Amino acid sequence: MCGICGYVGKNNGIGEVVGGLKILEYRGYDSCGVAYLDNEKINIVKTIGGVDNLSDLSKDINANIVIGHTRWATHGGVSEKNAHPHISSSKKLAMVHNGIIENYKELKEQLDANFYSETDSEVFLNLIDGEEGDLVEKTIKASKKVQGTFAIIVLSESGEVVLGKRESPLYLSKTAEGIFVASDVLALKGEYFYSLNDDEFVSIKNFQILFYNKNGEKIDKKQEKIEKNEVFSDIFCKSHMESEIFETKDALLKTLKKYKKDDVFSNIKLPKNLNSISLIACGTAYHASLMGAEFFKEAGFDARAYLASEFRYGRELLNKNTLYIFVSQSGETADTIASAKMVKSRKFYTLALTNTPNSLLNRICKNVLPTFAGREIAVASTKAYTCQIWSLYLFSLYLAGKKLPTENKISNIPFLNFDEPYIKEIAGFEKVFFIGRDLDYITAMEASLKLKEISYINSVAIASGELKHGTLALIDKDAVVIAICTQGKIKTKLLSNLEEIKARGGKVIVVSQFDDFKDFPCVKLPKYDELLMPIVSIIPLQFLALRICELFGYNPDKPRNLAKSVTVE
Ligand code: F6R
Repeated sequence: MCGICGYVGKNNGIGEVVGGLKILEYRGYDSCGVAYLDNEKINIVKTIGGVDNLSDLSKDINANIVIGHTRWATHGGVSEKNAHPHISSSKKLAMVHNGIIENYKELKEQLDANFYSETDSEVFLNLIDGEEGDLVEKTIKASKKVQGTFAIIVLSESGEVVLGKRESPLYLSKTAEGIFVASDVLALKGEYFYSLNDDEFVSIKNFQILFYNKNGEKIDKKQEKIEKNEVFSDIFCKSHMESEIFETKDALLKTLKKYKKDDVFSNIKLPKNLNSISLIACGTAYHASLMGAEFFKEAGFDARAYLASEFRYGRELLNKNTLYIFVSQSGETADTIASAKMVKSRKFYTLALTNTPNSLLNRICKNVLPTFAGREIAVASTKAYTCQIWSLYLFSLYLAGKKLPTENKISNIPFLNFDEPYIKEIAGFEKVFFIGRDLDYITAMEASLKLKEISYINSVAIASGELKHGTLALIDKDAVVIAICTQGKIKTKLLSNLEEIKARGGKVIVVSQFDDFKDFPCVKLPKYDELLMPIVSIIPLQFLALRICELFGYNPDKPRNLAKSVTVE
């Protein structure tokens, strides 16, 4: 989380860095700031809130060396003093930092410095300042003493800029206009970029870039081509989230076309005796993984989805006949990355399913299966989720030796809003439950997450068969239950659950393509292949969360306390 940017060159660096931070704002929007050099003196401008505030505050400044940051608070509350950049006690260095320094408390006690914030980052900065040597040497020495993760840009009053990274992404590019640094390739300019590996460092002095390893030895690095994730739509919408839901069909179609054109599946290196598939992910990507596991079972494989934050500390016996699929929109999620590194280090088969070219996860895994959902900016994942489900479905067909569907299959995917009158009604309830069985239970989990995330209504997803085992105690006239039913085999079972809810005064709204629910208000879905109904049914449920969020006057693109890429554990 958090976004960092830097610029050294001929242009006004304030414009370059603030422009870059705007692109990275989806990574954190509690507070932001820039540090720049003015006659060998470091100046800092910081503010609470978004990059637009920073843009207003810094519009009259002109500087050629600038570093900047947009923050998602970890250590220390949201305040101007905790916003980055930080300045060292000697005032000779400023720094922006992504990541977490775990041993900052112990280090702080050993330092003889004035601290102006509550952050771990400021401790790291003063540690660097207190070391002997030139700026790269100081940074390398200090990095050996810190435990945790970092991507840093350090600016010295002499105009030198030093970068370093450990388990948090950092990239740079050089063009005729200058050197650009960012924590996401998206915010770089130019056609090529350098990617830093863990414990690599960079010095930028007099427009020259030098790379170093952790021993302080100079190293060579190769540039890579920047593949930017295109933004699809110019559909006029009130928010990114809304336009991204509308882009779903384009995203699915593009993914199918690319898979067919590039024959992607046959390039995937599989274990010789592949017999099981494990999917590992976080949040919404985990829900897509649960769905994927069902598709792979359907194709005859033993399959299971894991939460990355649990998998990495779990007791799973890894297996050479298993394919490990890491699902992530951003390809930067810390727990997913750590899990992939763990599997890769033991030489088992890994595959990254990501929506972000050049992502860290793509570099770690043996195989990459991209989704082509285009750039997703809203924090709540929508089109990337449906695209992950689609991609896993197509891969399961390939593994089962079946043909991929025709493009018509997508054009025929029905697209549906949530019925207007129910939206206001649901928004008035204190308790919202989503229920379903089988694939619909997974959809219930995803719908519940979307509602919590952007409308801040507390909701819970329950496998409908589990209601009687506890949760039914919560059902009364203050509860609304949204029941999803797209799988024919569970219709009658669900009907009896709904009667039980009704009998206890709970309000029921059904989301289904079947005619069996005439006694209940129903958001009627169009008929489609049952295995693909999770794509059809989640769209009105994404709209439900969005419309309630709009009704409450919240910003769906930037929900409180959240950021788009969770690069801390
Ligand atoms: C919810 C949401 C998150 C992400 C999760 C994983 O709408 O977007 O739950 O799905 O943080 O992110 P990625 O897919 O980037 O690994």
